[in-house]
Amino acid sequence: MLELTLDLGPRTYPIKIAAGLLRSPELPAQIRGAQALVVTNQTIAPLYLDPVLKTLATAGIDADSLTLPDGEQHKTLATLKTIFDQLIARHHHRDTTLIALGGGVIGDLTGFAAACYQRGVRFIQLPTTLLAQVDSSVGGKTAVNHPHGKNLIGAFHQPAAVLIDPDTLATLPPREYAAGLAEVIKYGLIADADFFEWLEQNMPGLLTRHPPLIAHAIATSCHTKAQIVAADETEQNRRALLNLGHTFGHAIEAAQNYRHWLHGEAVAAGLVLAARLSTKLGHLSQTGDPIQRITHLLAQANLPTALPPEIPPTKILNHMHLDKKVQSGQLHLVLLKKIGQAFTTPNFDPQKLIETLQEPQPTKNLP
Ligand code: NAD
Ligand code: GLY
Repeated sequence: MLELTLDLGPRTYPIKIAAGLLRSPELPAQIRGAQALVVTNQTIAPLYLDPVLKTLATAGIDADSLTLPDGEQHKTLATLKTIFDQLIARHHHRDTTLIALGGGVIGDLTGFAAACYQRGVRFIQLPTTLLAQVDSSVGGKTAVNHPHGKNLIGAFHQPAAVLIDPDTLATLPPREYAAGLAEVIKYGLIADADFFEWLEQNMPGLLTRHPPLIAHAIATSCHTKAQIVAADETEQNRRALLNLGHTFGHAIEAAQNYRHWLHGEAVAAGLVLAARLSTKLGHLSQTGDPIQRITHLLAQANLPTALPPEIPPTKILNHMHLDKKVQSGQLHLVLLKKIGQAFTTPNFDPQKLIETLQEPQPTKNLP
């Protein structure tokens, strides 16, 4: 088993990575009281709910479960209420533990329910998508969507543990797996040039889902995320680096009404745009052709590397200015100094941003 720690003083917690964790005593060992509620969805329940409930029952925990409909469109206050209704109907007390069994949607919903129920109860993340295993399950951001925007209502509420069972990736559709790889590549770009190089060498093996390679990719990604969150839990400064490519990506998703590309796919195109803008602004040297390396690695991972052609650049620009990263009317960009070193800045020539969005993009642009 690989084990990391997210160091947050009294809220420090382990991130454990091992095949078979869903079926191991490590899960009940993280529960303190006698009650638990496993929250999952209709896709994941037939695959993994029984083993989780059996693991808990074997340890003497009689857990309830709640199976929600699948999809981002259900990450709402209305769905949150169904979790509270179940907790209240089943008389869950303040020492209950919520268990999020699923991808980022289930993790964000369950985490927010845990943040609110009786002013905060314990919760455990059992992430089952690559994106959730390398990103959303770690760091305590929880939220639901509002009709006017994604993740607008939420809280920071750290899990008590993140238990990652990479075996669950065996059933993940290829497009969802690739979307997770975009976030993995992001960590190499932000903070770890050696990891980026390792990804260049090992992408073919990662695409075959070779277990030792997946375990290394998850552990390295979680290590970087844990270090950044430990330094800046509530995103006052350094945590914003995790948003590399995301301002462009969110704008693409919003311009498509969240209907076409997956989040990771939009982030992939955003990573290339962020690199191209960094070069245009004179921050990222062209020596060693970093843009070609980034584009090639993302394309190898079956990810888009340019804007969707049907969306006018002006529409992307408008959505970028509506992003959460706008502070006091000023758009803050995450840019690259080199592969392995990102930084944030509110200072940039807006004309260069427009040029970056408008210039011809000869690279692959459809998933
Ligand atoms: P998701 O939760 O919708 O899961 C993607 C799809 O895969 C769903 O249909 C799901 O049912 C299915 N699935 C999950 N695990 C599976 C498995 N093992 N086998 C087969 N199918 C499986 O999407 P996601 O990409 O995991 O997460 C996206 C969400 O995460 C968004 O709501 C985003 O806002 C949020 N997010 C949160 C953070 C954070 O820090 N909290 C970070 C990034 C993203
Ligand atoms: N996904 C960005 C963050 O956790 O801060």
